[in-house]
Amino acid sequence: MLAIDEFDSVNIGLKVGKFISKSGDIDVEKIDAESKENRFDIVTVISQGTRLNLKHLYEAGFKFLGSKAIYVTKEFNPKEGKQCDLSNIFFSSFTPPNDQLNDYKEDLHRLGQIVGEKSRYFFDTDHPEAWKTVYHTWIDNLLNGRSDNMILAIDAATGCAVGFISLIEKEDTLLIDLVAVDPNHANHGIGSALTRQALQIAHEKNMKKVEVVTESDNIPAQRVYQKAGFIINDSVNIFYKKY
Ligand SMILES: CC(C)(COP(=O)(O)OP(=O)(O)OC[C@H]1O[C@@H](n2cnc3c(N)ncnc32)[C@H](O)[C@@H]1OP(=O)(O)O)[C@@H](O)C(=O)NCCC(=O)NCCS
Repeated sequence: MLAIDEFDSVNIGLKVGKFISKSGDIDVEKIDAESKENRFDIVTVISQGTRLNLKHLYEAGFKFLGSKAIYVTKEFNPKEGKQCDLSNIFFSSFTPPNDQLNDYKEDLHRLGQIVGEKSRYFFDTDHPEAWKTVYHTWIDNLLNGRSDNMILAIDAATGCAVGFISLIEKEDTLLIDLVAVDPNHANHGIGSALTRQALQIAHEKNMKKVEVVTESDNIPAQRVYQKAGFIINDSVNIFYKKY
């Protein structure tokens, strides 16, 4: 039932187990027993659907870490979306690993930390620094080839990357993996422009749909996706328990 979460284990520095439930059916006694048997320090439960039938998790000592909305679109030509003058920004697309992309490594790590601050790891008070390591590793993994495509928004005046979107192809679905825009450049349409470019790539690659998962309370991100034609397809609730 439980699997080891290699990524979290390495980045948090503890043995982390995970259980993903698509049906919302979660047997906490079985999780407790397996966790003890496998000597997990933490178990994360990721449950698709509503939180209403998960009260027994709270009663069994699990902490609620957050809720995510899963957005999907099959329309790659959005009519809405913030349209601003972006003549001071140019967009460059890369397929990692790529030496040129390494020139923006520092910028990308800085932008990665901005995403980290919106993530569930940021709210894990038991491991207050973990989100920094998680998102540092995440960016490194993307640069090393986990991402199929990275589009950078580069400030023409400074040559710095002030935004990026990373895309991962999974069969006929294009996943928007991470998006971030420097707060000094936010609300100028860069996030929307990056999202439109992702849709263009999906169209060119004959993908059937584009999917993105975001925290349910991340209003700017949701605004960008909704205006780009995405609709909520499902939700996911995340819990964890220390052993
Ligand atoms: C999400 C993010 C990429 C958007 O980038 P951006 O360049 O600011 O996006 P845009 O300018 O294209 O659009 C932002 C929209 O959010 C709206 N918005 C921003 N803050 C808002 C708030 N507090 N309440 C309501 N709407 C808000 C803006 O008004 C705009 O909508 P509009 O087109 O209707 O005016 C950026 O906010 C960001 O990097 N956030 C942190 C990282 C993150 O959350 N990434 C997404 C999860 S992977």
